[in-house]
Amino acid sequence: MNAVQHFLPYRAQIAEIIPESDDTRTFVLALDPPTSVFDASRPGQFAMLSLFGYGEAPFTLSSVACALAVPGTVTLTVRRVGTLTSALFALPQGALVGVRGPFGRGFPAPHAWEPTLYVAGGCGLAPLKPAIEHHLVARPTAPIAVLYGARDAEARIHRAALATWSATPGVHVIECVENGNAAWHGHVGTVGEFLNRAMQSIHPERAAICGPPAMLAHIGARLRDAGILPGRIAVALERYMKCGTGRCGHCYVNHRYVCTDGPVFTFAELSELPDAFPPTTDATMAAAC
Ligand SMILES: Cc1cc2nc3c(=O)[nH]c(=O)nc-3n(C[C@H](O)[C@H](O)[C@H](O)COP(=O)(O)OP(=O)(O)OC[C@H]3O[C@@H](n4cnc5c(N)ncnc54)[C@H](O)[C@@H]3O)c2cc1C
Ligand code: FES
Repeated sequence: MNAVQHFLPYRAQIAEIIPESDDTRTFVLALDPPTSVFDASRPGQFAMLSLFGYGEAPFTLSSVACALAVPGTVTLTVRRVGTLTSALFALPQGALVGVRGPFGRGFPAPHAWEPTLYVAGGCGLAPLKPAIEHHLVARPTAPIAVLYGARDAEARIHRAALATWSATPGVHVIECVENGNAAWHGHVGTVGEFLNRAMQSIHPERAAICGPPAMLAHIGARLRDAGILPGRIAVALERYMKCGTGRCGHCYVNHRYVCTDGPVFTFAELSELPDAFPPTTDATMAAAC
């Protein structure tokens, strides 16, 4: 991709809208005219989505062609939080949007021989989903564990994928919700409370984490303290972004650009970026973990 192409959105049609929860939907976008520009995307990379009159925002690809996505499409799982995402939710199937990318450094290639733990909180399962799917396509002989925490049962996203993984031999899935109710028969608590159980299930040598910032810092430190090498703990960061290409400086953290050096960093790299995680209090930590 040359420098000009970085800034020109591709036209895409909303081909499918999949409800995930009250405030989250998956949008499958068909590039129109067809182009294979996103087909080499890696798990953890992101796209800049543009809506006429509302601007652009970054969203991580929640499916990639190297693991289950249909070539020529861009799949984004979006939580409705503000102006652009609300405008997106108001669009019908068939509407046109713009999309730039793929951008950034994604998750490291899966290591088929090493037990790997994936930890996601809330919407953080969306970026981890293609990493897990890619890992399964790579036919691992080592076990995988997925620990997923949500606010309540209704807030859980990618439930079909979670059910598929739960039924896959060698994959241990632990789901937990903070607020249980009569309809939820699974675990009640935070991912922090179930981390030891997830680790004991596979004795991981690698891990990937995605979720609220306080959760990333806390879970990353616990995995490191449990003996996983910091260079083998992958963490997906979120920062305000504008260009997505390392030119505007909006995403600058210490001496790194999150849009091009990340958004996935190792915990070892993050130890050199003191501003990567916002300061946390016991209250924010408890809320996130
Ligand atoms: C690399 C990257 C990947 C992302 N992937 C996803 C994804 O897969 N799915 C998803 O739903 N969202 C994702 N996001 C967040 C998404 O970009 C924002 O939610 C979106 O920009 C909100 O746009 P809006 O106009 O609807 O909200 P706005 O009206 O701009 O803001 C609404 C509220 O959200 C806050 N906010 C907006 N953007 C951010 C941000 N980047 N960090 C912290 N707070 C923010 C604002 O301060 C405000 O309080 C990602 C962000 C980054 C940087
Ligand atoms: S978003 Fe512009 S430099 Fe990263």
